[in-house]
Amino acid sequence: MRRPFARVWTGALALMAAAAALPLVSPIPASADSVVIGGGPVRASDSPWAVALSSRDRFGGTRSGQFCGGVVIGRTTVLTAAHCMGRDVLGVPLSDVEDLKVIAGRGDLRAADGAEIPVRRVWINPEYDSYTNSGDVAVLTLAEPLPKGSAIPVAGQGDPAYEAGTAAAVYGWGDTTGSGTYARTLHSARVQVLADAVCEKAYPGSVDGTYTAATMVCAGELDGRRDACQGDSGGPLVAHGRLIGLVSWGSGCGRAGSPGVYTRLSGVAGVMRGRG
Ligand code: ARG
Repeated sequence: MRRPFARVWTGALALMAAAAALPLVSPIPASADSVVIGGGPVRASDSPWAVALSSRDRFGGTRSGQFCGGVVIGRTTVLTAAHCMGRDVLGVPLSDVEDLKVIAGRGDLRAADGAEIPVRRVWINPEYDSYTNSGDVAVLTLAEPLPKGSAIPVAGQGDPAYEAGTAAAVYGWGDTTGSGTYARTLHSARVQVLADAVCEKAYPGSVDGTYTAATMVCAGELDGRRDACQGDSGGPLVAHGRLIGLVSWGSGCGRAGSPGVYTRLSGVAGVMRGRG
């Protein structure tokens, strides 16, 4: 009796550990009033730089295999979150995913419009720290160029778009309720850039991560309501028409006192320039 029990228990522990680590499953559902959370559907043609990352092998075909977001910053260059390329999200090492694609120009994941372009190369920020979540960025190089005019400019160091109080918007096909209701069409929610102090207080260091102002942007609303959520990771946070962040992490979704945390593009520009 002991052996099987021990095996079952070990299995249960492994499952619990996997569930805790799996960014696609939120262990704590958001409150019912928080319903991308608090946003609405948008036309893909109005935000051609918002793309979906796809693997039908890993995630099935019903939603075009979507599992994370991405942002077009050049005709063959797409940014996403480093954690989207990790085993916790993919379930297997990245090298085992043979059908990684970027889907552009498709708002409705059940449709077949737009373009599906294979990813030729993946660069994962070597400074990404999966414990604090600092430096959560990866660069995908596409096998073919996207249409002209797909890319969004990236806000550099000192850009006023990073200032607290700036109106911003987050985009994605992720959970719209905090309890696993994945969107079939592209959604966007208006949020504001919040002072670093808000996230430093919310996230002084826990299993979720540690807020680090140099490499992260804090955004949402002080009373919650509007936020990114599971499945939005790697997608854009846009202010003043420029990319300031990538959806990275948070505690629950849309909860008061737990804003969204985004990869600060100006904070990772240096390491990205040096990528080999
Ligand atoms: N880690 C999540 C993902 O992989 C993104 C979570 C963002 N959460 C938030 N409350 N803003 O999709």
